[in-house]
Amino acid sequence: MTIDNLRTPPVALGTWAWGDSGEPGDGWFGSQLAQADLEEVVDRAQGEGFTLWDTAVVYGMGRSETVLGEVLTRYARSDYQLSTKFTPQAAGTGNDPMAEMLDQSLARLGTDYIDLYWIHNPADGALWTPHLIPLLESGKIRHVGVSNHNLGEIELADRILAEAGFRVEAVQNHYSLLHRSSERAGILDHCRNKGIPFFAYMVLEQGALTGKYSPENPLPTGSSRAEAYNGMLPQMTALADKLASIGRQHDAAASNVATAWAIAKGATPIIGITKPGYIDGLVRATGMTLSSDDIAELELIADAASLNTRGWWEKDMEP
Ligand SMILES: NC(=O)c1ccc[n+]([C@@H]2O[C@H](COP(=O)([O-])OP(=O)(O)OC[C@H]3O[C@@H](n4cnc5c(N)ncnc54)[C@H](OP(=O)(O)O)[C@@H]3O)[C@@H](O)[C@H]2O)c1
Repeated sequence: MTIDNLRTPPVALGTWAWGDSGEPGDGWFGSQLAQADLEEVVDRAQGEGFTLWDTAVVYGMGRSETVLGEVLTRYARSDYQLSTKFTPQAAGTGNDPMAEMLDQSLARLGTDYIDLYWIHNPADGALWTPHLIPLLESGKIRHVGVSNHNLGEIELADRILAEAGFRVEAVQNHYSLLHRSSERAGILDHCRNKGIPFFAYMVLEQGALTGKYSPENPLPTGSSRAEAYNGMLPQMTALADKLASIGRQHDAAASNVATAWAIAKGATPIIGITKPGYIDGLVRATGMTLSSDDIAELELIADAASLNTRGWWEKDMEP
């Protein structure tokens, strides 16, 4: 029982970095993003058919949602889809913290419905999942997904929703060449078998796996992503080189190959987009077919790097 079918483009667009304040040393990404550039990002993306935008309340505590709402005002609401999240760890103390958090997201995004609404992290599935049901029934949210949930938690959410005639319609986890925990835990297979999209986030390891950053040119000093990844950049070099060499055969960049790898594995990547030029890369990534040899070689090199890129908010998905 859903209002319409979830339209899943081959790639969704992530806006966590849009929550950065732009002040040096303040922000996860250390990015300074000008609204005019983000308008161009939106124009190029919409023009190429990338129309599903992912955000969350906690990306800059409302800043990402606000900016996204502003730059999308020039488009008809039916021309794009919004994906945002309820973060249990940031829930208020009112009577219905999920409905309240959703209302604040709707106001910031300048809309009266969310196409895809997520439980951001599994705090207490039995407690929070039922709160989605009246929001689905009211039409304020059209589809629901769970993020950072392991297989047991996904199944629990599905059972709770099924009692009201709904279901988990999407899963969103960290999934990259360097972090295949969801694949090893059978979550990708589960999604394939159930016919629901698996959204892969941090496919580019927040920029560390794009070839743009290296031990000589590390991620922005003072940012959280620099703290997480700069120490690993030397061990990522072999993988970045392989991505770049495959890219040369396709007239594409390393980052496009990493994205194409995720698509080849059956995932819908959510790529964090900060510059208009990155949209061309998505066009290349979605038009590229990687050979099974390329995929196997990339995974071999990634495994040999033996890096742990799990975010502090994530857990291992394997039982
Ligand atoms: N559910 C969750 O818990 C969760 C957690 C994390 C992320 N997410 C979602 O997933 C999205 C993606 O993750 P992310 O943004 O953290 O990381 P990501 O997609 O792995 O990396 C994004 C970064 O890669 C660089 N980049 C992107 N396209 C590029 C290209 N074509 N060429 C070169 N560099 C490129 C940009 O860095 P520069 O700006 O430095 O160029 C950008 O900030 C988020 O925005 C968010 O919507 C969800």
